[in-house]
Amino acid sequence: MTTRPMRLRRSQLSVPGVSEKMMAKAAASDADHVFLDLEDAVAPSAKAGARKTIVEALNGLDWGKKTRCVRINDVTTSWCFEDVIEVVEGAGKNIDTIMLTKAMRAADVQFVDLLLTQLEGKLKLERRIGIEVLIEEAGGLQNVESIAGSSPRLEALIFGMGDYSASQQMNLRGWGGEGYPGDVFHYPRFRIAMAARAAGLDPVDGPYANFRNEEGFRREARMAFMLGFVGKWAIHPAQIAPALEIFSPTSEEVTRARELAAAYDKALAEGLGSVNVNGTMVDAASIRIVMNTVRKAELIGL
Ligand code: COA
Ligand code: MG
Repeated sequence: MTTRPMRLRRSQLSVPGVSEKMMAKAAASDADHVFLDLEDAVAPSAKAGARKTIVEALNGLDWGKKTRCVRINDVTTSWCFEDVIEVVEGAGKNIDTIMLTKAMRAADVQFVDLLLTQLEGKLKLERRIGIEVLIEEAGGLQNVESIAGSSPRLEALIFGMGDYSASQQMNLRGWGGEGYPGDVFHYPRFRIAMAARAAGLDPVDGPYANFRNEEGFRREARMAFMLGFVGKWAIHPAQIAPALEIFSPTSEEVTRARELAAAYDKALAEGLGSVNVNGTMVDAASIRIVMNTVRKAELIGL
């Protein structure tokens, strides 16, 4: 069995697949992950041309250590299969993941998985291309557990709150002000995070459209972070730095986590199952939380 690659997804930058200029800016950005869009940021008449523009950008630009992803149209459209075929035939060696939009059921992911398997065989690609899935329809959220288990290529579940709100016909007039007594997105976020973690996938939070409102972006990102999300989309370069900050442990947190881990190892070596580290109890359960920080720091290179 092949294991899923560990990737950073603190900031996933969305870039319209028609814009060579924005793709060049994205390649030079600090985002962990960039996805070149063939879906909503591209008009129907521009879809075919955008595939070629994306292939050129993937092959021609220096993306550094970024995860290079292409976001494709959903399986009910007439574009989906050719999105996959054209970008993988054109730039398969330079694609890390394909992002499937509006997934409704496991079979939607399996369709993309099978296409990728055929293309990888034909093109003799040595590296397996991963899949990321947007949960952004009421039906998709209902099936999120089976979607999460649908393919060994799957790496991440993303909450797409814009389409989701439309799908459920949510009334967001009270959003951020009076109205609903709580966070309207708590339930889908919690459910997606739970399904993702149970299947060993990364939960990722979707876009915040008002890119001039940094405080609003930070508020949403912090809520997602607390529920276990690994990162949030950026639709504009201004949203990259706040996400990198919120989804990374601080150096104090990393130092503390390593101290606690060392103290726990020492305690175990002495035959003790729990230890007092300057007033904090560490045992088998709490060390798991600590180790999440230690592993995140390693992945980031802190
Ligand atoms: N990726 C890379 N570069 C981007 C970018 C993005 N998503 N969004 C903006 N930029 C660049 C601009 O080209 C501009 O570059 P310049 O300084 O060299 O001229 C710079 O960042 C500042 O942009 P700004 O002038 O503030 O915004 P804009 O009016 O050019 O673009 C949007 C605003 C919303 C049209 C643009 O951010 C965008 O298209 N975002 C992505 C939308 C998307 O992908 N939607 C689908 C997923 S939700
Ligand atoms: Mg969407």
